[in-house]
Amino acid sequence: MTVCEFRAGLEGVPATQSSISFVDGQKGILEYRGIPIQELAAKSTFLETAYLLIWNELPTRDVLADFEHEIQYHRRLKYRIRDMMKCFPESGHPMDALQASAAALGLFYSKRALDDPAYIRAAVVRILAKVPTMVAAFQLIRKGNDPVQPRDDLSYAANFLYMLSEQEPDPFAARIFDVSLMLHAEHTINASTFSAMVTASTLTDPYAVIASAVGTLAGPLHGGASEEVVEMLEEIGSVENVRPFLEDRLERKQRIMGFGHRVYKVKDPRAIILQQLAEQLFEKFGQDKFYDIAVELEQVVEEKLGHRGIFPNVDFYSGLVYRKLGIPTDLFTPVFAISRAAGWLAHWKEQLGENRIFRPTQIYTGLHSAPYVPIDERQ
Ligand code: ACO
Repeated sequence: MTVCEFRAGLEGVPATQSSISFVDGQKGILEYRGIPIQELAAKSTFLETAYLLIWNELPTRDVLADFEHEIQYHRRLKYRIRDMMKCFPESGHPMDALQASAAALGLFYSKRALDDPAYIRAAVVRILAKVPTMVAAFQLIRKGNDPVQPRDDLSYAANFLYMLSEQEPDPFAARIFDVSLMLHAEHTINASTFSAMVTASTLTDPYAVIASAVGTLAGPLHGGASEEVVEMLEEIGSVENVRPFLEDRLERKQRIMGFGHRVYKVKDPRAIILQQLAEQLFEKFGQDKFYDIAVELEQVVEEKLGHRGIFPNVDFYSGLVYRKLGIPTDLFTPVFAISRAAGWLAHWKEQLGENRIFRPTQIYTGLHSAPYVPIDERQ
């Protein structure tokens, strides 16, 4: 069957059937495997949520402990991967470093047994375990330091913050980071997940799936937005400057980063939770003007664009939270990749279940039977 109506960006076109997550963009609902995101943010952990997404059940205490233990065991990188990362230019973007390193994992774990549940589990564990270590390793390497070895006594979130700063984080900060990881873990068939699914549908290895998704997440219209939000808040500089800044941007037809969403036409439920987390963080670790600028910006954007369904998306407050946790701005998107890896892996596994290679059609707009003009006659 050929569907002939062309929809730019595949807007509204169902491209798969999935039971992993559900979004209602009009009501502001997000559920992972049917569980509202607010429930998970309040009660779960990132690794438990990742397990839920990938294996479609909440793990028992023992199952979760085994999963956490396996991930902890596989956190370290092979020295050859660390050496490879040392050859990357320190001026390179950490997303490019992550994409290259994720792809490189395939060189080391090349056996491909996609119908073997043990292989699937080992790949899931390896990817969830090593992606944070690779992000932190590149951060230290580009500063001229040796990567810090992961600490087995720290949780997933705390260990990442430790590897980044070489200091054990405050438990409250680590919990907030863990919640933030949960909030970004999955979001139906967004661009990077679609990219992961298309790659998965060729039955390539899972490291190629993750590398392709990382490359897609890197763009400023997708995961790259939180980085630009912080740069924008810095450019605004003061609460008084919010309105003139916004009016100038809108007059020049420029987008306000961190606002608007293909699916949500109300405030993104993740932005609501992240705003609460940001408030708690600023309360505990000291106020700074960026939070006030952000709140004012949200109000003025709502006034100017709210009637068009443009409200804060997940990236608006996540940048503020990450900044307060001491995460460098250009690591925001790699941090997004750490959490979204859970969703990508869930879709990889689901895709393998009833796989058919993605091969959509196109509406051809070019010439037919065009002449081949000899090179000397071309103008
Ligand atoms: N600021 C100003 N205007 C906007 C914004 C914005 N942030 N977002 C959408 N609009 C306007 C567009 O200019 C367009 O106006 P027009 O109809 O007059 O041309 C209209 O709203 C529709 O915009 P589209 O780009 O067609 O909407 P789409 O659903 O394709 O875009 C997107 C969604 C890409 C997220 C968009 O809102 C945007 O660019 N936002 C800023 C970047 C951003 O924050 N990205 C992160 C998204 S969340 C995530 O990926 C995790």
